[in-house]
Amino acid sequence: MSSRVLGLVGSGSGGVEELLPRLIRPAQEQGWTVAVTLTPTAGRWLSKSGALTEIEGVTGYPVRVEPRSPDEKSPHPQVDCYLVAPASANMVAKLALGIADNQALTQVNEAIGTRDLPVVVFPRVNAAHARHPSWESHIEALRRAGVRLVYGDDVWPLHEPRSAPGRELPWSAVLDAVNAAVPASR
Ligand SMILES: Cc1cc2nc3c(=O)[nH]c(=O)nc-3n(C[C@H](O)[C@H](O)[C@H](O)COP(=O)(O)O)c2cc1C
Repeated sequence: MSSRVLGLVGSGSGGVEELLPRLIRPAQEQGWTVAVTLTPTAGRWLSKSGALTEIEGVTGYPVRVEPRSPDEKSPHPQVDCYLVAPASANMVAKLALGIADNQALTQVNEAIGTRDLPVVVFPRVNAAHARHPSWESHIEALRRAGVRLVYGDDVWPLHEPRSAPGRELPWSAVLDAVNAAVPASR
């Protein structure tokens, strides 16, 4: 069985600092090869903490933040499933509108438009983000496009900003969604 390749995209939301222990290592244990891309915000955060270098060591691939030049090859393998986790409200809004002004958005927007390439998104947002008048239409646009959302009271109940410090993120539900999208025994 060939290894499934997960294109993991992290944005500037709470929990992005947990990616290595809570998502990347467990995904690898389940047979995934993981290649990571970060938004510029998440890239800054994880560079500063040293986690970006650690992720590169564990995955064996450079973490992509900047777009490549036209004369450079992509440093990542071909992806079987994209996962955006955690997805900021900003990331969700831009994906819904097709805005691709950084490497992370470019990859995921193209994946959304690619046939038979699953995209899973976990919006790590709070009640204030979800009260924005455009929020529901963004979620609906992604659903209509076939994006698999890990979203709802059962997985991540929305809370008021600053009211739920230290809450556990639904990492196992996120990984379940990815495994459902591309089963190991294909
Ligand atoms: C410490 C910190 C935590 C944040 N957590 C979240 C979050 O959980 N969800 C969210 O939507 N935005 C969060 N933000 C705001 C985003 O980082 C901000 O909107 C940023 O522009 C997102 O950029 P990106 O989507 O390109 O990564 C947080 C900001 C800071 C400083």
